[in-house]
Amino acid sequence: MRLLLIGPPGAGKGTQAVRLATHLSIRHISTGDLFREEIARGTELGRNADRHIRAGLLVPDEVTVGVIRERLARPDTEPGFLLDGFPRNPAQAAELDGILARTGSGLDAVLHLEVPDAEVISRIAGRRLCREDPGHIFHVDHDPPEVAGTCAFCGGELYQRDDDREATVRRRLEVYRGETAPVLDHYRGQGLVTTVSALGQVQEVLDRALTAIGRAGSTPRTP
Ligand code: AP5
Ligand code: MG
Repeated sequence: MRLLLIGPPGAGKGTQAVRLATHLSIRHISTGDLFREEIARGTELGRNADRHIRAGLLVPDEVTVGVIRERLARPDTEPGFLLDGFPRNPAQAAELDGILARTGSGLDAVLHLEVPDAEVISRIAGRRLCREDPGHIFHVDHDPPEVAGTCAFCGGELYQRDDDREATVRRRLEVYRGETAPVLDHYRGQGLVTTVSALGQVQEVLDRALTAIGRAGSTPRTP
């Protein structure tokens, strides 16, 4: 299955993506996570991406499309993939259409996670991420680890993202509305978009998402 997850910052894309990908036995590919890996490794690509991410702006398309092209060329994506955070503007969507058309494949569904801005700000303010595995995501109030500051899955150190300050989050929301929301129209034209509410417990949102893509009915494993 080939899926896209689209929604504003803090909608819970990463939280849901890791569960959906495990349930569907497909790769979770997050451009944000790929950029943060490059930043942690101190590569030139990482330094370039970091400047844009800190400002709450999109990393330039030529960089982002290159990263995705290389990632989708790996054989582990052949059974399917779940893209989280790509495409983020109509030009990237057109590039993805081209990449998939060349392999004779296409998308099965685009899941749109919908959430109000006030919830986004509160979710992001309390988010803590694991340094060892970006799929291990917590929230100080909604999903706290047993030991503060320590990942409940692997014992890794938890940290706050540099782009999670409120002013940067508001900029990211503007970018989402201006540049990313039109991507939904692109896929609506292809009849692929299903919108689900991202409010409620993580498991409730997951159940809605699985129903929306016709995979409800069994209990998925959590990470
Ligand atoms: P990216 O990493 O993709 O960030 P984002 O889209 O802003 O989304 P977030 O990761 O902040 O939120 P999320 O929806 O994953 O929420 P999460 O599950 O963590 O991108 C970062 C930057 O990289 C971009 O700004 C851009 O600069 C660059 N970039 C990336 N892709 C790019 C591209 N294609 N082109 C150009 N530039 C690109 O959840 C948030 C919190 O809420 C957590 O604490 C979680 O525990 C909590 N939570 C989750 N679900 C629930 C729930 N149901 N109830 C209560 N709390 C919940
Ligand atoms: Mg994320």
